[in-house]
Amino acid sequence: METAARTAPAAVIVAIDGPAGTGKSSTSKAVAGKLGLGYLDTGAQYRAITWWMLNNGIDVNDATAVADAAAKPVIVSGTDPAAPTITVDGLDAAGPIRTQEVTAAVSAVSAVPEVRALITDLQRSIAAEAPNGIVVEGRDIGITVLPDADLKVFLTASPEARAARRSGELKGKDPQQATDLAATREALIKRDAADSGRKTSPLAKADDAVEVDTTELTLEQVIECVVTLIEGAGAEKAGRVAR
Ligand code: DC
Repeated sequence: METAARTAPAAVIVAIDGPAGTGKSSTSKAVAGKLGLGYLDTGAQYRAITWWMLNNGIDVNDATAVADAAAKPVIVSGTDPAAPTITVDGLDAAGPIRTQEVTAAVSAVSAVPEVRALITDLQRSIAAEAPNGIVVEGRDIGITVLPDADLKVFLTASPEARAARRSGELKGKDPQQATDLAATREALIKRDAADSGRKTSPLAKADDAVEVDTTELTLEQVIECVVTLIEGAGAEKAGRVAR
């Protein structure tokens, strides 16, 4: 794990939400590494349960079948920001959860209330057990999962910037998925609409979240901005604890 070059003065709980392609994962991992905090990718958990459904022949568009099976897989997340891990029933799922098949199915599975209830409980227990604080990234962290987080950040970016970043990421991982920009943009917009429009815990900005538009910022600038916000939240928390 990267040695913490800077410190958050108290064990802070940080919620980072926003749509795909805003730099959430890269930012969250980097700030957690710099500040010695744990890191949890909640999208990976929804992808992991989706992967299990696909592997076990569950029709992901049948909400009742998904709900009935939701408690079966055992999902374990490792929270070291330098090497985050995810397993399903003991199997390494880090690679398979990034396939196009899983990406196409994850919005349907993550819209099922029973799935969200189980994964939300898992996320809360991981955050509660993080000894030095944690950065939790997702879509509904600030509003639903950790409404008492010490800091809430909501990352945004234009659809063009998000598609360009996502397309770059995909090229690095799976050349077959390196579709053209327009197709990536379409897919992102479709997934955002599903994630923002679902009934249970839609993607949304908490009233007390700090919004950071990353369209014109480099990753380093976003990281620096969020580190500064966390240091401020940590100092405030340390002050409250001392009083
Ligand atoms: O961050 P990601 O693209 O890997 O997330 C995959 C999907 O999981 C996303 O389309 C919506 C869902 N998700 C969610 O519903 N709630 C979260 N807290 C995180 C992700």
